[in-house]
Amino acid sequence: MDNILRGKNILLGITGGIAAYKAADLTSKLIRLGAKVKVIMTPSATKFVHPLTFQSLTENRVYLDVFGATETYEIGHISLAKWADLFVIAPATANIIGKAAAGIADDLLSTTMLSMEAKTVFAPAMNTVMYGKPVLQDNIKKLKEWGFGFIPPGKGRLACGDWGEGKLADVGIIIQHIEYHLSSKKDMEGLKVLVTAGPTHEAIDPVRYITNPSSGKMGYSIAASCIMRGAEVDLVTGPTNLEPPINARVYKTDSAIDMYNTVLKIFDRVDMVFMTAAVADYRVKETASKKIKKTDDSLILELVRNPDILRELGKRKRRQVLIGFAAETHDLENHAIGKLESKNLDFILGNDVSSDESGFGSDLNRGVLFIRGEGSVPIPMMNKKEFAHRIIDEVMKRIR
Ligand SMILES: Cc1cc2nc3c(=O)[nH]c(=O)nc-3n(C[C@H](O)[C@H](O)[C@H](O)COP(=O)(O)O)c2cc1C
Repeated sequence: MDNILRGKNILLGITGGIAAYKAADLTSKLIRLGAKVKVIMTPSATKFVHPLTFQSLTENRVYLDVFGATETYEIGHISLAKWADLFVIAPATANIIGKAAAGIADDLLSTTMLSMEAKTVFAPAMNTVMYGKPVLQDNIKKLKEWGFGFIPPGKGRLACGDWGEGKLADVGIIIQHIEYHLSSKKDMEGLKVLVTAGPTHEAIDPVRYITNPSSGKMGYSIAASCIMRGAEVDLVTGPTNLEPPINARVYKTDSAIDMYNTVLKIFDRVDMVFMTAAVADYRVKETASKKIKKTDDSLILELVRNPDILRELGKRKRRQVLIGFAAETHDLENHAIGKLESKNLDFILGNDVSSDESGFGSDLNRGVLFIRGEGSVPIPMMNKKEFAHRIIDEVMKRIR
């Protein structure tokens, strides 16, 4: 599965809220991801951001008026509605949500929405009191029942100075929702998937730990891709700076033992496990309870083995499909195949982390997928999102 957004027609509706300026970032990112974007603005939205911004970003005219939206003999709102693969309203005011719930079509944006066969998705943004009003919540409920999509707003400091729910969702989250609605491949529907991601922290004392350079990007990409394809995902993550994928159940863990205990609690109820976390093999035997002072010239730490999560899952597995990840700096094939056999895995992705351009921390990856009893499939260098889909394609081909 390729980048879902490439070549897709996204109609972006912008309504009159302070967060309208964030729609510029959204537009620019969608275009960079290969989507074609056309923009409709309400008259109120043009008071916040000038249409010229969107005209320049999209290299398209911006549509503003029901009676001025035609380029030829076509009826503007109908042709825009037919053109769109998805209608995204970001930010969505309380007003547009109310109008949609009541079937009002009194400007180009609301009229186009009523003419739309493709899905409409709202990203609400407003003051927290407005967002909590029963009428607004009732409108959202009604629209959801009718099949409209909603991207929940975030919590935090709002432009008006209040704190609470109502902040426009982060652009990255909005893009994940758009991808979710556009992805038609739902071959993982009904599957429960456990993904581990990121590094672990093995404490030396209260302020120091042993870790590795894993960023968590590969595991988070696998989790996001499984969700796009319809799976229910539990993401057990070590410490990372990443925004978790939408709709994942996230369990934050710290050390290898913490991750081990969390994974074992979930394992029995899942069908598939992607173990992408870079779990420390060793931990400090005795963690100091106070900060270690630099009194001596050298410090010797005694390390003891951590439990091997993947090996334990291999012993316990019944119906579960187990996919391991092996980060290697040398002799990739031998090490990966060795682990496939000795840990009772079904697949293992051998990752060469010796190169700077792929692997740990990078947005790119390449590797070889070894398949139990079958051989191997090389996966060339590509971004981690596409890489995740390629691995899942290979796994799904063999289990369904
Ligand atoms: C400075 C300012 C900020 C506003 N911010 C929001 C907002 O974030 N969310 C919202 O629902 N309405 C907001 N409003 C109110 C809307 O602009 C108003 O309801 C308007 O009628 C919305 O029109 P539209 O939905 O057609 O764009 C704001 C108004 C002003 C003057």
